[in-house]
Amino acid sequence: MPPSVAFSLVLSVGFCLLLGAQCRFRTLDHIRAKASDEVQGAAVAGLLRRLLGQRSAEFVVSVNRSLSNRGLDVCELRSSKSKIVAVGSSGVAVASGIYNYLKYFCNCHISWSGDQLDLPRPLPNLSGVLRISSPHRFRYYQNVCTFSYSSVWWSWSRWEREIDWMALNGINLPLAFTGQEILWQEVYRALGLNQSEIEEFFSGPAFLAWNRMGNMFKFGGPLPQSWHVNQLRLQFQILERMRSFGMIPVLPAFSGNIPKGILRLYPKANVTMLGPWAHFNCSFSCSYILDPEDPLFLQIGSLYLSEVVKQFGTDHIYNTDTFNEMTPPSSDPTYLSAVSRSVFASMTAVDPQAIWLMQGWLFFNDASFWKPAQIKALLQGVPLGRMIVLDLFAETEPFFSSTESFYGQPFIWCMLHNFGGNTGFFGTVESINSGPFEALNFPNSTMVGVGMTPEGIEQNPVIYELMSELAWRKEPVNLSKWVSLYAVRRYGSTQETLAAAWRLLFASVYNCTVPHYVNHNHSPLVRRPSFHMNAGIWYDPADLYKAWKLIVEAAPSLMSKETFRYDLVDVTRQVLQVLTTSFYQDIADAFQRKNMLELLTAGGVLVYDLLPELNRLLSSDRNFLWGLGWSRPDPLPWMKKRRSSTT
Ligand SMILES: *[C@@H]1O[C@H](CO)[C@@H](O)[C@H](O)[C@H]1NC(C)=O
Ligand SMILES: *[C@@H]1O[C@H](CO)[C@@H](O)[C@H](O)[C@H]1NC(C)=O
Ligand SMILES: *[C@@H]1O[C@H](CO)[C@@H](O)[C@H](O)[C@H]1NC(C)=O
Ligand SMILES: *[C@@H]1O[C@H](CO)[C@@H](O)[C@H](O)[C@H]1NC(C)=O
Ligand SMILES: *[C@@H]1O[C@H](CO)[C@@H](O)[C@H](O)[C@H]1NC(C)=O
Ligand SMILES: *[C@@H]1O[C@H](CO)[C@@H](O)[C@H](O)[C@H]1NC(C)=O
Ligand SMILES: *[C@@H]1O[C@H](CO)[C@@H](O)[C@H](O)[C@H]1NC(C)=O
Ligand SMILES: *[C@@H]1O[C@H](CO)[C@@H](O)[C@H](O)[C@H]1NC(C)=O
Repeated sequence: MPPSVAFSLVLSVGFCLLLGAQCRFRTLDHIRAKASDEVQGAAVAGLLRRLLGQRSAEFVVSVNRSLSNRGLDVCELRSSKSKIVAVGSSGVAVASGIYNYLKYFCNCHISWSGDQLDLPRPLPNLSGVLRISSPHRFRYYQNVCTFSYSSVWWSWSRWEREIDWMALNGINLPLAFTGQEILWQEVYRALGLNQSEIEEFFSGPAFLAWNRMGNMFKFGGPLPQSWHVNQLRLQFQILERMRSFGMIPVLPAFSGNIPKGILRLYPKANVTMLGPWAHFNCSFSCSYILDPEDPLFLQIGSLYLSEVVKQFGTDHIYNTDTFNEMTPPSSDPTYLSAVSRSVFASMTAVDPQAIWLMQGWLFFNDASFWKPAQIKALLQGVPLGRMIVLDLFAETEPFFSSTESFYGQPFIWCMLHNFGGNTGFFGTVESINSGPFEALNFPNSTMVGVGMTPEGIEQNPVIYELMSELAWRKEPVNLSKWVSLYAVRRYGSTQETLAAAWRLLFASVYNCTVPHYVNHNHSPLVRRPSFHMNAGIWYDPADLYKAWKLIVEAAPSLMSKETFRYDLVDVTRQVLQVLTTSFYQDIADAFQRKNMLELLTAGGVLVYDLLPELNRLLSSDRNFLWGLGWSRPDPLPWMKKRRSSTT
């Protein structure tokens, strides 16, 4: 469809109704699960079989979408003849309702680092109706970086497990970025690029996040055809499963990032070559970005989106980020509005019902460029209600409050929490606990959801459980009470010392309140060597040591629990990380004072004692071994041998 037709359709639908504190965007009413109630119910039954085996027969689940009020999810559970009967407005709602029952009535727990599923027999009865509901239309999950930091090598079994985790934790708006390169390959071939021009563009699998964002190309590539085919197959499975739970997968769209070969075909195209990125030289970075106002943008963008919709089907939400970590060529508001209008037109040309989901990262990353006039111009280039902005790092740097709720565009309050896939205890529990409620109660708030946008996952499971649960709450939780119960569920043990350990952790290492704290893991352990590191920490290590002692003391009776072993390793790792910092400081001081003896002592302990111990510790649990996580159930034989000889 030509863009002018799409626009007249669009203009008639953009407004927001204020109902109570919440703004309801009519423009988003068509964003809903397409799978039938029966399919969604069957998806939850399948999840319970994977999770609980035979005992899943003690749950009777069904979906009835007319239970939902204004598109908001709800689930009701009751006991009937010693079974638990759950009915909810979507598969995700039912899965979340059951997880709530498993957590608060059975003391069970499901996480990236193991499950604690000692179900009481018989199941505890519910005396009345247990009803959970969410005030948030959308619960978003994943960051464009997560694919490279965490999921790039996943097989279907690992994805299946993650999608189960999403359903249990209430996610209904997940990013679905797998397999997009094979579609790009089709588009570039159709445009006339030859194979070598295409291969010189894609990076290797591990770097695809930054290739997609236009930061770099070619590095680690080319992608073999077998990769393309496998990723496509994987994406079909991922989408089918997500949709069967009633989730709305977010699909990729065109940002303007093009292979150099396009310049051979269209020498007159208005293309900007970016500067180098992150210490790569121009053999691997300095990407070519097509100006969104060039007619070729509409051509390539709509060719690609047609291919996406043809292959993947659609739920009408597409993500692209035009100025991610790059400064626009002009700060003229007229230009910026024209840019977003063009990007949106390339979507509506293919799907008149398109909604553009954009990460609000640029406003934070390039704050000196993005002043109110610029932000407003970019956002209002798209009809109100046809774009959803992710307030990407809202627990630390919220933007909704300084932009009058993104100047009327709907937004999702997101917790970013993790940078760079770093491990290490971290959390801003107070702002996570209060932020979503403040955003919802903000005058004329256009908030339509909450989200989790970590760059990397499989770390700090407690924070993600807290955040997911808050999406179903009407007010903040009592954190010390909440985390005490978390300890009970995580280990299936009511030992008060474990709850005390977790309260200590929540009051210290998980309670970062330093304003504007970014990229939290400053440990020399994870940084490039230098004598000028800021290795400061935001908590008192004494609290960590006390919690460590309590967890170590509980070890004898709990070593059979995977969740406990994981936390025992993890808390010890955190302690060793703090010790590393103190040796680092000794080394730096000794070097400064040219004291050779002290330098050799501190350096010697670090290199010959502490680091090998840390290595031994991390080798003792497969969750901490690179490449031996979920996708491979058992260690390789030589690993087993080495482990038994070292432990
Ligand atoms: C679904 O819920 C609606 C509203 O509560 C109710 O009228 C209807 O009977 C339910 N349908 C089924 C199949 O239970
Ligand atoms: C739950 O109620 C059923 C009867 O509805 C009863 O048979 C069962 O023993 C009860 N279970 C528990 C744990 O009390
Ligand atoms: C692709 O096109 C480029 C530019 O014309 C040329 O240098 C290259 O040899 C071609 N590669 C193949 C495989 O045809
Ligand atoms: C190319 O795009 C830039 C903005 O990126 C704009 O300033 C310039 O006028 C455009 N050039 C042409 C020839 O359209
Ligand atoms: C970029 O770096 C690579 C490897 O370090 C080198 O081979 C190449 O010539 C460099 N390219 C440019 C344009 O400097
Ligand atoms: C909220 O919207 C109303 C109606 O548009 C307006 O009168 C009021 O000033 C707005 N409040 C704030 C705090 O922006
Ligand atoms: C939180 O709960 C604990 C009990 O676990 C209680 O002692 C404390 O007073 C509560 N805090 C608040 C602010 O209600
Ligand atoms: C976190 O620290 C602040 C003070 O910085 C304190 O007011 C708050 O109670 C602490 N939260 C927890 C969970 O301990």
